[in-house]
Amino acid sequence: MTVIVGIAGSLRKASFNAALLRVAGERMPAGSELHIASIDGVPLYDADVEAESGVPAAVARLKDAVAGAQGLLIATPEYNNSLPGVLKNAIDWMSRPSRDQARVFQGKPVAIMGATPGGMGTALAQAAWLPVMRSLGLRWYTGGLLYVSRAASVFGPDGGLADPALGERIDKYLAGFLEFVNGRA
Ligand code: FNR
Repeated sequence: MTVIVGIAGSLRKASFNAALLRVAGERMPAGSELHIASIDGVPLYDADVEAESGVPAAVARLKDAVAGAQGLLIATPEYNNSLPGVLKNAIDWMSRPSRDQARVFQGKPVAIMGATPGGMGTALAQAAWLPVMRSLGLRWYTGGLLYVSRAASVFGPDGGLADPALGERIDKYLAGFLEFVNGRA
């Protein structure tokens, strides 16, 4: 079984990115599972807190989840044409202490997708993640792109999928990513 950890970069209850991740979890290719982890409860990074008490429990859980998985799937919102601070903050915490970075991130396949009510599908946010992932040594999946625009019309009020065409795009993206993770692409 190939285990992928999924993280959405939004704390909002009705988050479109959390919805996208949930839908992806329901549509994982045979032989794979998505374990959704949450950034809820991760405090703002503070080097004094780290020096006094190490990484918070919520961060340690996220680190162990990623370390134990074969890949990482991120659903990113776009804020001001860039990445969302809440998720960058969680990733920054997860990169500490630096001696533990290799265990968590080095060589790990990562796929970045995202949803927005706007028309640009989080393209700029996804691009903004590239230097972050590169600096942590993750392996970036480039075999496909999943830009989800007009999120309010492709997800229903309950966060379920309301657009079958998006389901097909998600399936194709996940199939490509899992081939990449399993070394067949
Ligand atoms: C946004 N939003 C937004 N959308 C976008 O496509 N490009 C952008 O640059 C921005 N900028 C932006 C800045 C700030 C501060 C906020 C709060 C919002 C809208 C954003 O896509 C929308 O709020 C999404 O619903 C956020 O994702 P979740 O929470 O639904 O996952």
